[in-house]
Amino acid sequence: MKAYINYTRIILLFVFLVILAGGIVRTTQSGMGCPDWPHCFGMYVPPLSEKGLPPDYKKYLDKQDIDAVYNPAHAWVEYINRLITGALGILIVIHVVWSFKKFFRTKQFICWLSCLFLLATLFEGWLGKLVVDTNLAVIKITLHMLAALFLAIIPILILHKLNTDKIVHDKTLYVLTTIALSILLLQIILGTDVREQVDAVSKSLNYQQRDTWLQHLNAVFNIHKVISFITSLLIIIIFWRSLSHAVLQPKAAFLFLIVLLLMAAGISLASFNIPAFIQPIHLLLSAILFVGLFAFRLNIKK
Ligand code: HEM
Repeated sequence: MKAYINYTRIILLFVFLVILAGGIVRTTQSGMGCPDWPHCFGMYVPPLSEKGLPPDYKKYLDKQDIDAVYNPAHAWVEYINRLITGALGILIVIHVVWSFKKFFRTKQFICWLSCLFLLATLFEGWLGKLVVDTNLAVIKITLHMLAALFLAIIPILILHKLNTDKIVHDKTLYVLTTIALSILLLQIILGTDVREQVDAVSKSLNYQQRDTWLQHLNAVFNIHKVISFITSLLIIIIFWRSLSHAVLQPKAAFLFLIVLLLMAAGISLASFNIPAFIQPIHLLLSAILFVGLFAFRLNIKK
């Protein structure tokens, strides 16, 4: 059982790795590094220079909006992203087989959750292909983000079903956590809207004049800032309330730490003209906070 639980945890880490890799692809503007899918310029492995490309490779460049020539750095960042996603897919297939072998007679719902995990990953992969095919249409990017969060909560549900963690009964904490989770989801949706605006303005300025990008953001950015303080306040109250439940304390402390880091990342984005390296960190921390809060909520009952 321990090996199965650890394996499920590793897959969860992989989901976060995929989210981080996706963020890096975006900030390095590598999304179209491989304009076709599942190939990259019609090849299984992108070459290190233009010389290794097939003779008709220019037809792929027409699909791109950033590079007018073959950019090996962009191709490789996108390619590594695909490798990590592919590895996740393989890990999940093994998970499904393992779940059926281990739990089909005793805990069938684990098998179905594992199947759902596989289906959600395939859906996420298909959505990723759609994003590439439609040249990164922004609305699909938001959908992609929400699907990634959904994906990450499936292993949490599996772990919860197998876990023997003590459930805490606290109605106030239950309500607070449910409200925090809903507001956080709204905040993430608003965040992806801000990000879509950043994408649009950065593209229109040809990824130059970074110091002017923030000026082009509309009121959603201000709402995003306000809600970030409401979310943080809720997490602080949840942390304070959890101090009376020994079993919840480490998890609440973890959420507290993540929200602090997330706020620091957000404030740095707003204060230093959206530094590229902070963008994927901000994204990753929001995903960790959401999944962490979801897992925390599962341990509380009215
Ligand atoms: C609870 C706190 C917060 C959460 C959950 C959150 C969540 C998010 C999410 C999910 C995104 C989209 C990221 C992406 O798709 O790559 C985003 C973008 C953004 N957020 Fe936040 N955020 C928080 C706090 C803040 C704060 C305090 C600020 C600034 C004062 C901020 C500024 C931004 C900016 C500038 C973007 C666009 C970044 C980009 O284009 O990569 N956020 N946020």
